[in-house]
Amino acid sequence: MRRALLALVLAASAVPVFAADATLGLPPLPSPPAAQVALGRELFFDRRLSANGTLSCAMCHVPEQAFTVNETRTSVGMNGVSLRRNAPTLLNVATVERLFHDGRAASLEEQALQPLVHPDEMANTSAAAVVARVNALPDYRVPLRQAFGSARATPQRLAGALAAYQRTLLAAGSPFDRWHYGGEAQAMDALAQRGYAVFRERGCADCHTVGARHALFSDGGFHNTGTRARSESLGEQPVDVVLAPGVTTQVTPETLRIIGVADAPDRGRHEVTGRASDLRAFRTPSLRNIALTAPYMHDGSLATLDEVLDHYVRGGWPADPAQDPRIRPIVLDAGQRRALMAFLGALTSPSALPPSRMDTGR
Ligand code: HEC
Ligand code: HEC
Repeated sequence: MRRALLALVLAASAVPVFAADATLGLPPLPSPPAAQVALGRELFFDRRLSANGTLSCAMCHVPEQAFTVNETRTSVGMNGVSLRRNAPTLLNVATVERLFHDGRAASLEEQALQPLVHPDEMANTSAAAVVARVNALPDYRVPLRQAFGSARATPQRLAGALAAYQRTLLAAGSPFDRWHYGGEAQAMDALAQRGYAVFRERGCADCHTVGARHALFSDGGFHNTGTRARSESLGEQPVDVVLAPGVTTQVTPETLRIIGVADAPDRGRHEVTGRASDLRAFRTPSLRNIALTAPYMHDGSLATLDEVLDHYVRGGWPADPAQDPRIRPIVLDAGQRRALMAFLGALTSPSALPPSRMDTGR
């Protein structure tokens, strides 16, 4: 008993100070079974799960890039051609109720099999094909037995393990959380504190909500912020195409139309509900760790947070009649803009930083 206690104390002191508070600012969440998490982690990084053995979940949700990809606007999938949407960060995905930018999946279990069988993602012909491949890999027998009491893979077990692993990807405890929820008056500097006031006064918090005891920075709803209409009106933005592993080139939409892979109009939430009010509406993303997850919006069309602020200052894309009425031109003077940027920067969790940047804290 005393030895266990000592081990606990030693383990705690070896961990950097912030780790104890890595979930400060998040609602209470259940911890998934450790053996399922371990199995899920292996699956997440395993390229053998894709049809031709080249693509793993982690290649579109890169741990060192806050579980997204910073280099491409939209994900590059199996055929080397861009998917139409940006890979969302998986940090704090346990708090998301309706998954994907259009909310079409209701749980991580339901979501997990979709990329495995999507023809442009991991391109397996069916969930059964993935299960058969895993069952043929001897190295999964022990982890499967430990997680589910049976060495046999099933679609439910693979999905359950991937979901369990993703539920552990929590990253809060940011300077904002320590200041707002942790009672540390100095944890967030004065500029960022002014930025928080601007954030509320300009209506940002109407959708990117901050609760009394925790903050998801999302109302979990779907809104048309003018992004899609803007992207489709401007249209001529180049698209990333992979020529060989690690070699990406940019191709104009014109060329893509000629070769028959043109960017289809994206109706967002409307594709799921058919409701007129959901036209070009996308889920409100959390703003946690936002400084690490460029490029922005469902289609990665805005490269920097400055461009996102420009978008809101202009009032989105007023030419879109379906745009949410709350997206209207706003005024931000240079000081307010700097403050807002400082606030967004204060939403970065130390635990979300790649190891190389952890020492310096930025
Ligand atoms: C080819 C790139 C690619 C691969 C491989 C990939 N994803 Fe994704 N992922 C995406 C994109 C793009 C989206 C957004 C799609 C959309 O909203 O329609 C996404 C969305 C998600 C979401 C929803 C997150 C949210 O906030 O709504 C989860 C969870 C997820 N992926 C997990 C996984 C898992 C688990 C795997 C491996 C089994 C995987 N992904 C493989 C690109 C990829
Ligand atoms: C009417 C609801 C609403 C309001 C008000 C709002 N947002 Fe958003 N915000 C969204 C939605 C929805 C998206 C995702 C749009 C997309 O994917 O195309 C988004 C995206 C973002 C993103 C990019 C997130 C990412 O991961 O790509 C940032 C940053 C952001 N908003 C900041 C702000 C700021 C700052 C304000 C105030 C000036 C604001 N938002 C006001 C709903 C809103």
